Amino acid sequence: MTLRGKTALVTGGSRGIGRGIALKLAESGAKVAVHYYQKEDQAKATLEQLRACGSDGFVVQADVSKPEEIRRIFARVKSEFGSLDIFVNNARPEVPTFYEGPMAVSLDMFDFAMDSQAKAFLVGVREAVPFMRAGGRIIALTYAPGGRFGSWQPWVAMGAAKAALEVLCRYFAVALAPQQITVNAVSPGWTDDSVLNTLPQPVQDTIRKWQQAGWTPMRRLGLPADIGNAVKLLCSAEANWITGQTLEVDGGASLVAGHLPLEVQQVPAAHAA
Ligand SMILES: NC(=O)c1ccc[n+]([C@@H]2O[C@H](COP(=O)([O-])OP(=O)(O)OC[C@H]3O[C@@H](n4cnc5c(N)ncnc54)[C@H](OP(=O)(O)O)[C@@H]3O)[C@@H](O)[C@H]2O)c1
Repeated sequence: MTLRGKTALVTGGSRGIGRGIALKLAESGAKVAVHYYQKEDQAKATLEQLRACGSDGFVVQADVSKPEEIRRIFARVKSEFGSLDIFVNNARPEVPTFYEGPMAVSLDMFDFAMDSQAKAFLVGVREAVPFMRAGGRIIALTYAPGGRFGSWQPWVAMGAAKAALEVLCRYFAVALAPQQITVNAVSPGWTDDSVLNTLPQPVQDTIRKWQQAGWTPMRRLGLPADIGNAVKLLCSAEANWITGQTLEVDGGASLVAGHLPLEVQQVPAAHAA
């Protein structure tokens, strides 16, 4: 599979899952615009890594909660690349900016979550499409459980924002189908080397053990490279008939019901090494 000759923009490509995606696209031959918000050093490190695998690109800064800054990203991409083949909407603000339960979350926090996700995607897709070539790929990173369940109370604002993002994917998929542009969402399970590693150590340890105990049937956390591989597959020519879908990339975590203990469900034990 090759993406040679293709150009890509990955928002939040400076680190975490976005970096994993940028590197997989670069390994396949695409040139990548690496977007960041505050951590220019991380974005430059990603650019160096993608150059080391024979690709190229540039870094671009913006706050994706501000439409005028999103427009600036695309103006830069247009001036550097001329055309765009792949737009990955991955950036997500830091957790404390939106992390409050439904009875406490401020309207500013709620707006910030929505602006950085659903509205950013609405603006970004409209900016990208006019210089996107046929066969273009638009992919939004979501966390589907946050829109499906209601138990993780302080996630309400981001859960609602991601649900709106997934809805937009379906509407854009239909709108852009005549141009042979596909629009899909990718929903990672808990992933190492990402926001997870910014959480307090006891929380990280609990989440890691929880997945290893069987709540992720493959018994490990995901890696940015696992998510990058899924995005790369959706960017392949062979994925041209897949559009408007939300793909769970989670080692089976979304298949496990939370209604019964794992031992009652008889989830297979970890395979001895
Ligand atoms: N991590 C997981 O386990 C997991 C699970 C499911 C879904 N996801 C989704 O996957 C995506 C990436 O998650 P991650 O954990 O890899 O993220 P992360 O490591 O926290 O990185 C966040 C990225 O977004 C950028 N960013 C932060 N605030 C921004 C703003 N206001 N405007 C523009 N960019 C901003 C950051 O730029 P700087 O580097 O400059 O700060 C960084 O590149 C997110 O959409 C997330 O919801 C993650």
